[in-house]
Amino acid sequence: MENQVPVLFFMIIVLVFSSSFASEQHYTSAVGDPGMRRDGLRVAFEGWNFCNEVGKEAPDMGSPRAADCFDFSSSSLKHRVTEADNKLGVGKPFPGLSPEALNNTDLYAVEKELYLGSLCEVQDNPNPWQFWMVMLKNGNYDSRSGLCPENGKKVGPFKPGRFPCFGDGCMNQPLLYHQPTDFFGKDKIRGGFNGTYDLGSIRDGIDGISFFEVVWEKRVGVGSWVFSHKLKTSKKYPWLMLYLRADATKGFSGGYHYDTRGMMKTLPESPNFKVTITLDVKQGGGPKSQFYLIDIGSCWKNNGAPCDGDVLTDVTRYSEMIINPETPAWCSPNNLINCPPFHIDPNNKKIYRNDTANFPYSAYHYYCAPGNAKHLEKPVSLCDPYSNPHAQELVQLLPHPIWAEYGYPTKQGEGWVGDPRTWELDVGGLSSRLYFYQDPGTTPAKRIWTSIDMGTEIYISDKDEMAEWTLSDFDVLLKSPTL
Ligand SMILES: *[C@@H]1O[C@H](CO)[C@@H](O)[C@H](O)[C@H]1NC(C)=O
Ligand SMILES: *[C@@H]1O[C@H](CO)[C@@H](O)[C@H](O)[C@H]1NC(C)=O
Ligand SMILES: *[C@@H]1O[C@H](CO)[C@@H](O)[C@H](O)[C@H]1NC(C)=O
Repeated sequence: MENQVPVLFFMIIVLVFSSSFASEQHYTSAVGDPGMRRDGLRVAFEGWNFCNEVGKEAPDMGSPRAADCFDFSSSSLKHRVTEADNKLGVGKPFPGLSPEALNNTDLYAVEKELYLGSLCEVQDNPNPWQFWMVMLKNGNYDSRSGLCPENGKKVGPFKPGRFPCFGDGCMNQPLLYHQPTDFFGKDKIRGGFNGTYDLGSIRDGIDGISFFEVVWEKRVGVGSWVFSHKLKTSKKYPWLMLYLRADATKGFSGGYHYDTRGMMKTLPESPNFKVTITLDVKQGGGPKSQFYLIDIGSCWKNNGAPCDGDVLTDVTRYSEMIINPETPAWCSPNNLINCPPFHIDPNNKKIYRNDTANFPYSAYHYYCAPGNAKHLEKPVSLCDPYSNPHAQELVQLLPHPIWAEYGYPTKQGEGWVGDPRTWELDVGGLSSRLYFYQDPGTTPAKRIWTSIDMGTEIYISDKDEMAEWTLSDFDVLLKSPTL
């Protein structure tokens, strides 16, 4: 009896240890700057028109691509990008610029991003990385301009009315001001970008005009960078988007049809990754502010093949959870047209949208299908064909108990104004069970995500609205294969 006690005790120890090892997952970061803790920051800016291009540069602003990248050493900042680099605009050569791009505003911006990337690049394993990306987009579309393709196909001008536009020049790029990062107080560093779409001055304040601002600040050697964002709409610019993106360091990030630079040196694939982030929403931006607690973007074809730059068959895929509690579920038993054909529950059970007793209608804001899909289940809503370089598909979620399994908000208001939180989201698990369209009988696409973003889309506000939020500790964590 007596000498059995130590044996039993030993066995319990072994059991406790082995079970805790078995349940502990090992993660490695996919981003160049895990948790935004690196003092030597890398951040860039890009301005997009309605179809994610440039169109026309704003006067004296250069091409809407800029960067603030510096090395931090012995209490000095060594900037790698000059203000002259940031002001580079169409017609001005830089190393590596192709002759076709020199006089073409759209191609010029693409190559300028690659050039800024080369200045910011950090060598790392398994791949180098370049920067976090601040993305600003103007939702005005002048349909008489014929500037945006329809599901990737070139189309002519059409009658205005469907999209906001105050007239000539409504698709302009913004005025952009840069505060290069510098010491601020004894042990803090700070920098930022701000500006407006209204091409007058902002010296007299921002009343009545649009405004955007991203300010980054960090205590040297301690914690995360904190990115403070502001986005304000105006009568002329009622539809604006401002995101902080972790994009792929090469290839097509979500919404692009051209090579990009970014932060994700390894691309996350569903279901084996999660995202951590701290979000503090200070001001919501009104009822139309579709604040995305993580928007994920990628591109694959309807037959499941990866995108290859053919805009007629490539399809941008997005999914995002909208945390503004004023956002209603457009999907409902009476509006199946706004729901995905089915929901997959955590036990991998398919629940069809006509199963009114079980389908979680209020977990979905809106689903829309790619305009070039051939075998859609009716009723179906097609996504806007103009706002991306190719056809797109959107799966928009709302907080709901069904998402608890993945660490997402389960109730309206969670994570919203007055409820700052650090989230650990099983984005990989959730996105592996979302419906995305695919042609019947084709091999399921690998769900590899080239962009992970956070921010808001103020989707056509009736009055001037301001959204304000801070973001920090951003990381994308890949599950390591268990040893
Ligand atoms: C670009 O524009 C400039 C000035 O208009 C012109 O001199 C030059 O030949 C153009 N280059 C190309 C490659 O079209
Ligand atoms: C925008 O940034 C500039 C440069 O940092 C700053 O001087 C200006 O006050 C900012 N504008 C507004 C409206 O906050
Ligand atoms: C519900 O939808 C599924 C898939 O479209 C279909 O197979 C099934 O017949 C529908 N059930 C009812 C009761 O309409």
